Parts: sequence; C-alpha cells; structure tokens
Amino acid sequence: MIRKARIKDVKAIHGLLMSTDQHEGLVLPRSFSQLYSHLRDFVVAVDGDGKVIGCCALSLIWEDLAEIRSLVVSPEHRGNHLGRKLVEACLSESVTLGIYKVYTLTEVPGFFARLGFAEEGMESLNQKIFLDCLNCPRFPDLCNEVAMTMNL
Ligand SMILES: CC(C)(COP(=O)(O)OP(=O)(O)OC[C@H]1O[C@@H](n2cnc3c(N)ncnc32)[C@H](O)[C@@H]1OP(=O)(O)O)[C@@H](O)C(=O)NCCC(=O)NCCS
Repeated sequence: MIRKARIKDVKAIHGLLMSTDQHEGLVLPRSFSQLYSHLRDFVVAVDGDGKVIGCCALSLIWEDLAEIRSLVVSPEHRGNHLGRKLVEACLSESVTLGIYKVYTLTEVPGFFARLGFAEEGMESLNQKIFLDCLNCPRFPDLCNEVAMTMNL
C-alpha cells in the first residue's frame, strides 16, 4: 500500500535514506530534524504488516516547479513496481497542487526514463542549484547526477 507518511514512519524513512550506497544509486541522507519538518512531502510504501519498505518525497521548489527526491525501495522489495507507484503518487499530488513540471536529480536515469522523464540540462533548473546544490559537498565535480524532467 502507498500512503502519506506519518510521524511514526520517520525512523524507517531515515533508515532507508541512510541505506543506499554508490553502487545502487545514492540518495542524500537527511537529518531527523529535516525529516520532521518535511514529513508532509513524503509518501511511503508499507507491507502487509505495516512495515515501511519504501519512501519518496515531493518537494515544492517554485510556483511552477516541484522535485521528486528521497526515493528508496528496500532491496528485498525491488522489482515489484513500488518505485513506480511511489513516484506516481508524488506526481499525482503535484497535479492536485497545480504544479505541472517535475524534475529529479538522479544516478538511475534509466528508471526515471521508464516512467516518462526526459533528460534535461542542469542549467534549466536554476532554482535547484541555488537551493541545494551550492551547499552540497558533492557539487560540482563529485556529482554524478543527471537532471530529468516531466511535464504533467
Ligand atoms: C531506483 C529504485 C527506487 C527502483 O525501485 P523499484 O521498485 O525496484 O522499481 P520498479 O519496480 O517500480 O521499476 C519501474 C520500472 O523501471 C525499471 N527499473 C527499475 N530500476 C531500474 C534501473 N536501475 N535502471 C533502469 N530501469 C530500472 C523496471 O524494470 C520497471 O520497468 P517496467 O515498468 O518496464 O517493468 C530502487 O532500485 C532503489 O531504491 N534504488 C536505490 C536508491 C535510488 O537509486 N533511488 C533513486 C535516486 S533519485
């Protein structure tokens, strides 16, 4: 099941974001404080026992731009279209909010291409660069991420 995140999910979300490594597609870790203040951005996937097995966030950047970020599916549950469903839930929320352009910065462009995203130059995402990239320890030379966008 995919649902909006709740306060009790934060530890599990934190664990998922800390669990990725460079070999599978790196996701930036986020502090507990950031997760509490941005909890409303998140959707989670839960198994039959209610355990959180995936997460994804929709971050509002500007009046006409939102970002998909913090996407992780736990390794044992990959390949079951949970990643797709998590992203689609965020896209649906973006449409509900009236934001029709969504982007992501990713090391797994093939996954987002399957969902209909297309590669785009970073220069078209000025707001993102000013918001996050300038303060990122991997910017610019250590960053392997590709910018991908979707018009909804
Ligand atoms: C990327 C990730 C979220 C995919 O989750 P998933 O649940 O296994 O993906 P899905 O099953 O929903 O895959 C949807 C489609 O993308 C394809 N796909 C999945 N991972 C892919 C990859 N790494 N490269 C290319 N295509 C991929 C699937 O084959 C599927 O195609 P289909 O619709 O034609 O069957 C998961 O591998 C993960 O958590 N990786 C580590 C963290 C990460 O890289 N996050 C993204 C950073 S922005």
